[in-house]
Amino acid sequence: MIDTAQSYDNEKIVGEAAHESSIPREGLFITTKIQDKHQGRASTIESLNDSLSKLKMDYVDLLLIHWPNMEKFDLSLETWQTLIELKHQGKTRAIGVSNYTQDVIQKTIDASGVIPSINQVEFHPFLYQEDLLSYCKSKGIRIQAYSPILRAKRTEDQPLQTLAKKYSKTPVQIILRWHIEHGTIPIPRSSTRQHMMENIDIFDYSLNECEIEAMDAMDEDFRLIHPAKAPDAW
Ligand SMILES: NC(=O)c1ccc[n+]([C@@H]2O[C@H](COP(=O)([O-])OP(=O)(O)OC[C@H]3O[C@@H](n4cnc5c(N)ncnc54)[C@H](OP(=O)(O)O)[C@@H]3O)[C@@H](O)[C@H]2O)c1
Repeated sequence: MIDTAQSYDNEKIVGEAAHESSIPREGLFITTKIQDKHQGRASTIESLNDSLSKLKMDYVDLLLIHWPNMEKFDLSLETWQTLIELKHQGKTRAIGVSNYTQDVIQKTIDASGVIPSINQVEFHPFLYQEDLLSYCKSKGIRIQAYSPILRAKRTEDQPLQTLAKKYSKTPVQIILRWHIEHGTIPIPRSSTRQHMMENIDIFDYSLNECEIEAMDAMDEDFRLIHPAKAPDAW
């Protein structure tokens, strides 16, 4: 699974790497997003075509609206309706949203009748968005957690250290397992092979209910990325 976006400027290099590798297209899960400045029907279609051409692919697996337009809900709705069309055309296998609050998701569903598959949001033990998670679960929307390990900035905190010792895992692996226990999909970024191997090695143990609750209690409503900084920051 590779998370791309126009604003990350990584589609071209991901496309090149995918073509150079021996992995068949169906062995990859490629996500891209519609940037705020490309919201609206014509711009969204053009934007996805541009992404596909950079990726050298004829479809993506997941297409997201990167941020809801803060001022004009109708514009984001028009973008969403275009995503529905693009899915019907086979240009994306699934569609979803990113950085959407419960209210905006509900308004989008009410107006379009279509439930997003994914809401990609900042989510980690220091920002345990319990209400958003339970709302999304009730609708069958999966939370895809970005900055899922808080960029490895708080690995010294308890109970991460204690749990890491108990399970012979690293604090980062403990956080990633916490996501799995909650049914969120963590998408950690890493540029080192060792970290990538470590980040996937979390499926041979589980946390018990008390341990999950202790980690839930780490919540500080701490955000790395604020809507005010978006969409230029990400
Ligand atoms: N939709 C949105 O608005 C939005 C916003 C932000 C991010 N995202 C997506 O979410 C992805 C991840 O979020 P993020 O990059 O903000 O934060 P992150 O994944 O929480 O943290 C990435 C940092 O953690 C380090 N790291 C990774 N694995 C580690 C390990 N096992 N041990 C120690 N350090 C480790 C990485 O360094 P090394 O490279 O050295 O491993 C990197 O500096 C992004 O790549 C992007 O695709 C989406």
